[in-house]
Amino acid sequence: MSETTDERTARDRISFLRTLRAVRSFRSEPVPQEVIDDILEVARWSGSAGNSQPWEIVVIKDRETLRSLASVEGYAGHLAGAPLGIVLVMAGEREQRETYDEGRLSERIMLAAHAHGVGSSIGWIVGSGRDAAKEILGIPQEKMVRTTISLGYQGEGARRSRGGQARKPLDEIVHYERYGQESL
Ligand SMILES: Cc1cc2nc3c(=O)[nH]c(=O)nc-3n(C[C@H](O)[C@H](O)[C@H](O)COP(=O)(O)O)c2cc1C
Repeated sequence: MSETTDERTARDRISFLRTLRAVRSFRSEPVPQEVIDDILEVARWSGSAGNSQPWEIVVIKDRETLRSLASVEGYAGHLAGAPLGIVLVMAGEREQRETYDEGRLSERIMLAAHAHGVGSSIGWIVGSGRDAAKEILGIPQEKMVRTTISLGYQGEGARRSRGGQARKPLDEIVHYERYGQESL
């Protein structure tokens, strides 16, 4: 029996979602502005708690700025080799809600990039890096800066992922009906 278009579309979409992985090594070619615009449009439509949209986005192409950000305290060293970086600026008003919203926003940005064949990775800025990043970008002190996203076309060594690439099997993480019950 032949597969219907709907089934094929669903399978393609699941595969697209399933194959999003962190890319931390990039070729130097720039990400076209139309692609950036698409990514930002998807970002804009992300859902947030109470639809509060507690975010702003700094888009960075300048190599020196990217290198500076890569060097502050944190785990965003891959920004140094990326042709494009995004820094999420959260309102800094309601921590628990905004942390969740920030995660959704990050994932949307990465998926929109993936749709265009652009690889990406989150890089967290921590400790003194947060004030340093605000200083570099002129972000007001009261805002929350934690998440950067490196973006670009995948380069050599891009799949040398930190922390391994495996995932826990479903039977280790899924419970049916009640916690501890592994099948229906
Ligand atoms: C909340 C969060 C924070 C992350 N922080 C960093 C980071 O600071 N630096 C980094 O290189 N990757 C970071 N990552 C990417 C993870 O390391 C990556 O998602 C994980 O290792 C799985 O990689 P894979 O999908 O390529 O297998 C972060 C991911 C998440 C969800």
